[in-house]
Amino acid sequence: MNEPAYSIAVLISGTGSNLKTLIDTAAEGRLPARVCHVISNREDAPGLDHARGAGIPFTIINKATSGGREEQDHAIVECLDGVRPDLVILSGFMRIVTRPFIDAYGGRMINQHPSLLPKYPGLDTYRRALEAGDTEHGASIHFVTEGLDDGPLVSQVRIPVLPDDTPSSLAGRLGPIEHRLLIATVELFAAGRVQTSHGRILLDGEVLPEPLQLQSDFRFA
Ligand code: GRF
Repeated sequence: MNEPAYSIAVLISGTGSNLKTLIDTAAEGRLPARVCHVISNREDAPGLDHARGAGIPFTIINKATSGGREEQDHAIVECLDGVRPDLVILSGFMRIVTRPFIDAYGGRMINQHPSLLPKYPGLDTYRRALEAGDTEHGASIHFVTEGLDDGPLVSQVRIPVLPDDTPSSLAGRLGPIEHRLLIATVELFAAGRVQTSHGRILLDGEVLPEPLQLQSDFRFA
């Protein structure tokens, strides 16, 4: 089987279940893209096992390997420049990225976040949604800017909050749906359908007024 040409670099810090979904979906021939490299800022990130298992090269870049935050971002840019990915995905990468990294990759770098942004940037989104009495929660994918979980929104998926939900039950239900959002969004990127320009999202060259919403059949309306 010929591997798709469209290549993705994935940055992780932890479990890497989204990375695993990308790898598995690609291995099944259901993703028009391939994961070409993984970068982790934690050498013990469990998600690295998914890269190891699939024979995907990975690089650890953190304080110990590279120094301060800007130096680490320079090292990341250098690594990515060597790999030349079409798309960079921050997938549970627990670091705010600095200007040099954004200057180099901003137009082709997305982040996934477990809330309906602009609600609840940062941590603990499930608890915060429950405490606010929200009736729905969800996940978002956006282009990366210097702000925390900020930047033009590409896509979202929504799930209802149930009366007995706890942060962990909500997280457990959202996880697999967030994986589907990632796959559907990567398909759009690999087809060359999404760009960002002047803080806006262009879909097929037209300004997207609202983020795309993933429907229950896991397609965008
Ligand atoms: C996801 O919920 C993502 O939105 C957030 O971190 C989580 C990563 O999960 N940024 P995993 O490491 O892919 O399992």
